[in-house]
Formats: sequence, C-alpha cells, structure tokens
Amino acid sequence: MWQVRVSPCGDFDNHPFQSNHFTCEPLAAAMGAEVVGVRLPELSDEGVASLKQALWKHKMLYLRDQHLSHAEHEEFAARLGPFAVDAYTQGVPGHREVHPIIKEADEVTPSLFGGGWHTDSPFLPEPPSITFLRQVEGPPYGGDTTWANCALAYRHLSKTYQDMLRGLRVHMSAANNFSTQAFLRGEPIDFGTVEKREQGLKGSYHPLVRTHPETGEPSLYICDTYAAGIEGMTTHEAKPLIDYLVQHTIQHAFTCRLRWKPGMVCMWDNAATMHLGPNDYDGFRREMYRTTTSGGAPF
Ligand code: SIN
Repeated sequence: MWQVRVSPCGDFDNHPFQSNHFTCEPLAAAMGAEVVGVRLPELSDEGVASLKQALWKHKMLYLRDQHLSHAEHEEFAARLGPFAVDAYTQGVPGHREVHPIIKEADEVTPSLFGGGWHTDSPFLPEPPSITFLRQVEGPPYGGDTTWANCALAYRHLSKTYQDMLRGLRVHMSAANNFSTQAFLRGEPIDFGTVEKREQGLKGSYHPLVRTHPETGEPSLYICDTYAAGIEGMTTHEAKPLIDYLVQHTIQHAFTCRLRWKPGMVCMWDNAATMHLGPNDYDGFRREMYRTTTSGGAPF
C-alpha cells in the first residue's frame, strides 16, 4: 500500500504517429504533438483522414506558420466534420462558424473565457468533439494553453477506483459558471437565445468514464468548471469525488502546454482532454478564433 503520493510512471505512450502526409513531433510525454511539413489548406482528403488519426492518438496537435484567413479556417475545419453549435460565442461577419476569442490589452477580468480547467460545452447532450483554435495576435509571454490527458489519468487510477467509477453518470451544467459570470459582471452574460441558456442551466448527464467513439479508449469525462454532481449522490458525496478526479487529472505528468505564436493553429479532442487558457497577460492583446466540430452523445 502506498503511504505517500507517488508520481505516475510507466504508462506514457506519446510516440509519434506515422503518416505519409506529415510528420508528428511529440510535445510532452503525456500528450500533444507538433505537425510539421504541411500547410493545412493544401492537405489532401487522405491527409485530413490521417490528421484525425494523429489527433486521436496525440489528443492535441498544433502547427506553426499557418496564417489562415477566416475563410481558410472555416473551409479546413469543415473537413474535420460538421460544425457544432457553439454554446457561448457568435461567429464573425461572413464566417458564422469562426468565433472570436479576443481579450484587449486594457481588459481586466477575474473570469476569462476558458480560464478554468474544462472540456468544451459538456453540459450539452452532444458536446463538440474537436475544437480548432488559431492565433492572430498574442502577448510576448503568457496566454499559453494547457491540456490534460483524461484517458491517461484514467489509466493511472487503481483498478478498484476504476471499477467504482464505471457506471456513474456525471451531471455537467453551466449553472455555476453562469452565476459566477453574472456576479462578476453585475449582469447576466448574453448566450444568444433563451433555449441555449436553459440548456446550459439544466445541463446533461454523461458517463463519468466515457468510451472514445473512434478508438474505444476509456477516459475520465470530468471538468472543474462544469461537473456539478453525480447522479444518485448528494452534493456532499459527489463534490470530493469530482474534486479528487480533477486534481488527479491535472497533475503535471498528465499535461502539455503550448506557447503560442501568431499564425499557429491547434486542435484538440474534447472526448479525452481538459484544457485551460490562463488569465496571465493583462496589458497585452490576444486575438484567437475557434471553430468546433460536432460530436455525438458520450457513451
Ligand atoms: C478555450 O477554452 O476554448 C480557449 C482556450 C484559450 O484561449 O487558450
């Protein structure tokens, strides 16, 4: 029996995905890879299929020096699959699927979009599968995005704990996020429609251990921002379990961190990761655009 907390070891498997269309260079032991040797708009259909396989393996991919226009971004993202309906943001004029995430240099907020550990919109019955994000302008330092590999975190739980989790359903809801935002802003945030707001508040129940729809890999479906409870448990029972799983998942060994440069793009697999964009670049402008690809109901 372990008497002290031990660091995870052994089961790290981020060796590069092999493709005829590009090269993958792993970013960290846990996850993430840089894709080199290709400009995305020039990738063939076979290349896009291969890129998706690489994404399922590495869980986050990034490419430098892409400098995509809104049109190129939208066209490429459409090749990953049908667009998801974004729960929060609206598209830019002429490109309704390309959603801005911009923080101005003089904007100061304690609650930044994407600033807490989360997976994208898990309160929806069918949360998005892939998020694709690009940087146009960024701070000279800070504004990195960090991901955690939730499948690796699951594998590093004891079998007893895994057995206890399987079969449980997590309640994902945006209610806590809504009320925090409303408290900080002094007004409710605009979620576009009453239906979107109501769906966010009501939330959805999903398997706490989900199976990846493409690879069959089991993964924790956990979230610091949106996991509000566990079906059949009181809040007092569920909260320590959720808090433990979040802390377990975000430990350093299970993460990778991307230092952005303008012109970069990245994409991640929401079925097997959490991420966060820290609020650490006041005084600098950060201009990002994202699209999301639809996903089915987690199972
Ligand atoms: C997001 O949570 O989708 C945005 C992350 C970031 O801005 O780095």
